[in-house]
Amino acid sequence: MKFFIDTANLDQIREAEELGVLDGVTTNPSLMAKEGITGKNNILKHYVDICAITPGDVSAEVIGTTFDQMVREGEELAELHDQIVVKVPMIRDGVKALRYFSQKGIRTNCTLVFSPGQALLAAKAGATYVSPFIGRLDDISSDGLSLIAEMREIYDNYAFETQILAASVRHAMHIIECAKLGADVMTGPLSSIESLLKHPLTDIGLEKFLADYKKGNA
Ligand code: E4P
Repeated sequence: MKFFIDTANLDQIREAEELGVLDGVTTNPSLMAKEGITGKNNILKHYVDICAITPGDVSAEVIGTTFDQMVREGEELAELHDQIVVKVPMIRDGVKALRYFSQKGIRTNCTLVFSPGQALLAAKAGATYVSPFIGRLDDISSDGLSLIAEMREIYDNYAFETQILAASVRHAMHIIECAKLGADVMTGPLSSIESLLKHPLTDIGLEKFLADYKKGNA
């Protein structure tokens, strides 16, 4: 399972990279705004900066909502760096754009996916990654993880190469359940990855080992 971090914060990306488990980065317009990155040139430069410190794929989202706008923006984003994956929303023109990019060999991440039907459509259109937002489904009392299970079944039935990128991940249990269900990738904040580290018995055990060592080597 690949670990992506969902942020536009360079320090957090560096920190995840130093931990040694980072495979890629996803961003979105809200995350860019949160870091105060505004204006086209600054945004494009920021993507290049992210690519420079990330070992793998970096999703960069288009803002346009028509086919022509998405194609123009996506081609420009893809030109920036070979790690860039063009993030396209699950809307009618987005599906057309996914097909266009797939035929041109430009890799894509279909975002804002909330149903198995949308996931099937995106795979049919040739998306490289499809991002079901599991946390946001949970937020409306729906079951985000069951969407991952449905997608896995559908993609396996037809051997789609499209990768399931479990997005809007919030905590350790999301990551563990996604791994059990066979999601190809997860993306979430650094805190969700770090929460995998924690277990009270590890802390208690380590404390005892060190105390015993100290006693024996006093
Ligand atoms: C996915 O690529 C999105 O950027 C992201 O995971 C959305 O997560 P959120 O629901 O925490 O905003």
